[in-house]
Amino acid sequence: MNDSGSVSPRSVVITGATSGIGLATARLLAAAPGVTVVVPARDAARGKRVADEIGRVALPLDLADLASVRAFPAALDAARLPPLHALLANAGIQYTDRKHTTSDGFEATFGTNHLGHFLLIRLLLDRLADDGRIAIVSSGTHKRQRLRNGGYPPPSWADARTLATPGEGSGQVAYATSKLANAITAVELGRRIDDLRPGTRIAVHGVDPGLVPATGLARDYSPTGQRIYRALAPAIAALMPGATTPERAAANLAATALDPSYARGATNGALPAGRWWEIAKDGAPSAEAQDPQTGADLWRDSEALVGLAPAPRPS
Ligand SMILES: NC(=O)c1ccc[n+]([C@@H]2O[C@H](COP(=O)([O-])OP(=O)(O)OC[C@H]3O[C@@H](n4cnc5c(N)ncnc54)[C@H](OP(=O)(O)O)[C@@H]3O)[C@@H](O)[C@H]2O)c1
Repeated sequence: MNDSGSVSPRSVVITGATSGIGLATARLLAAAPGVTVVVPARDAARGKRVADEIGRVALPLDLADLASVRAFPAALDAARLPPLHALLANAGIQYTDRKHTTSDGFEATFGTNHLGHFLLIRLLLDRLADDGRIAIVSSGTHKRQRLRNGGYPPPSWADARTLATPGEGSGQVAYATSKLANAITAVELGRRIDDLRPGTRIAVHGVDPGLVPATGLARDYSPTGQRIYRALAPAIAALMPGATTPERAAANLAATALDPSYARGATNGALPAGRWWEIAKDGAPSAEAQDPQTGADLWRDSEALVGLAPAPRPS
C-alpha cells in the first residue's frame, strides 16, 4: 500500500509460468491488485498464450542458454514495467538421463535448474525493490529421505564443475541434486543478500511445493509412463502424504511474493533472510543445504561457471 491507501503498481517475474505450478501461480498473481506478472518463456508462442490469458507480459528467456539469461534484464528494462517487487525462480526440468546439455555445454538439469537461475537472480538483484522478495523453488527430493520421497533417489553431491559435466548416470539423481543446489542457493543467497544490496530489506525464501503430480515435469518419461502418471495424478494428490495440486502449491508460491508474512522482518529464521515453506507449513532445508562451506563452494564455482566476477563475501 502507498500513503493514499491504494496498492502501488509492482512487477513479479516468475520463471516457468507456462506450465504446472508456475502457470497456476501466474494466474493467482495476475488477479492481485496492482501486480504486473512477467512471464519469461523459452517458447515465444507458449509465453504469448499465457500472457494473453492472464493479460500480462511475456519476455524471452531460456535458462539453458546463458546468453539468453544475460539478455533478459535489458528486455525487462525495455518493457518499462512497474518496479520489480519479486523474482520467483520456479522453472525446472527433469530428464531420464544426464546426457542432455545446455547451449553452454553444461549438464542440462544442473545447468537449467541451478546455473540459469543463479545467473538470472544475480543479474536482476540490482533491479529488485528495497523490500523485494526472492523465492527459489527446490523440492523434497533434495533431502536424503528416499522412503518419504516415494522411492525417489537421493541427491549425489559433488563440486559444481563435476555436476555441470554431462555423462552417464541417473536423470532422477541429477534432478534431486539440482534441487539440493537450489536449496543451498536459497540459504547462501540469504547469507549474502545484505552485502549484495546494502541498506535494503530483501527477503530470500526457499519453497518445497510437495509432490505435484499433475504438471509437465515428467515430460521426458516414456509415453506409457506419462499416461500412467497422469491417470494416477488425482489419486496421488488426494491420498499420498505430501502430495498436492498445482493450485494449492501455487497459493503458497504466490504468497512468497505478496503476503506480508513473507516480508523480510516477518520471517521465522529458518533461512538467513527468509522462510523455508514446505508443502503446507514452515519447515527447514536439510542440514546438508545449510552447511556454510558447501554454500560458499557452490557460490564461488557457480560464479566461475556463469562468468560472473566474485561478489563480496558475507561480513
Ligand atoms: N511437480 C512436482 O511434483 C514438483 C515437486 C517438487 C518441486 N517441483 C518444482 O516445481 C517447479 C515447477 O515444476 P512443475 O512441476 O510445475 O513442472 P512443469 O509443469 O514441467 O513446469 C516447468 C516450467 O519450467 C519451464 N522451463 C523448463 N526449462 C526451461 C528453460 N530452459 N528455460 C525457461 N523455462 C524453462 C517450462 O517451460 P516450457 O513450458 O517451455 O516447457 C515450464 O514452464 C520446478 O522447479 C520443479 O522442480 C515440482
